[in-house]
Amino acid sequence: MSLPKSYTLITGASSGIGRQTALQLSASRRLVLHGRDAARLEQTRQACANPEQHRLWPFDLKKVDQIEASLTELLKSGDVPVEACVCCAGAVQVLPLRQVELPVARDLMNVNFHSAVEISRLLTARRLNEKHLRRLVFVSSTASLFGARGFQMYCASKAALDGFMRAIAVELAPQVRVNSVLPGAVQTPMTDHLLGDPALRERMAAVYPLGLGQPSDVAGVIEFLLSDNANWITGQQIVVDGGRSINHSG
Ligand SMILES: NC(=O)c1ccc[n+]([C@@H]2O[C@H](COP(=O)([O-])OP(=O)(O)OC[C@H]3O[C@@H](n4cnc5c(N)ncnc54)[C@H](OP(=O)(O)O)[C@@H]3O)[C@@H](O)[C@H]2O)c1
Repeated sequence: MSLPKSYTLITGASSGIGRQTALQLSASRRLVLHGRDAARLEQTRQACANPEQHRLWPFDLKKVDQIEASLTELLKSGDVPVEACVCCAGAVQVLPLRQVELPVARDLMNVNFHSAVEISRLLTARRLNEKHLRRLVFVSSTASLFGARGFQMYCASKAALDGFMRAIAVELAPQVRVNSVLPGAVQTPMTDHLLGDPALRERMAAVYPLGLGQPSDVAGVIEFLLSDNANWITGQQIVVDGGRSINHSG
């Protein structure tokens, strides 16, 4: 099967949900795979279908003021029209508010929010990507909607992402569709510290009517939002949490 000429950029493709999304999309799309660690990104590329068709973008998103130079270099280094983007890279920190110091808070906002703003801005800039961009998906979290002890900066970063998503969905229509996916607890390296504890895992699983999530549960929804089957959907927060947020029993 010949792949379309345009690319789908996936940030956070070296691990968890982003990696699974890359594996699922790789049979039908050319991908730009982003992450921090080039070796882990290369492992994702080799696990993908059509590995020779995909490009790598190793970059630390904490350095948000250097995204423009780095992404410009990538897009101008060859013919890399970007038709779709999944902003999946993210980090979490769990700290009581009294210990949240500004540099740590800034790093988290840079990775979870400001990087998505900067990437969206650059991919819609005509000088860089002409008018190629059509679909944007942000991987937010149910933490955008609810509170949890110690998660104040994570919740704030995801709520900011969703507010930004709604505003640009209006601003960029009808050319670009923009949506967020809001996962509940998914088994990935990010949640190893929680779900690796059998007692805690059991307690968490008990409040998920459909059980805890796997990366493929989220990747399938991202794939749908990127597809023509979602052509009349924009500006939406799609909750993918196995029913956790509607479960008020017990
Ligand atoms: N797992 C869950 O339960 C859950 C629930 C709700 C939402 N989410 C969201 O889903 C997304 C993916 O999370 P995941 O669970 O798949 O986590 P993960 O396995 O830890 O993957 C996180 C990805 O983000 C990248 N990343 C982290 N910090 C970065 C930085 N400073 N610069 C560049 N890349 C960076 C990582 O790259 P490296 O490999 O180079 O570190 C990795 O590719 C995140 O936005 C997360 O907030 C996850």
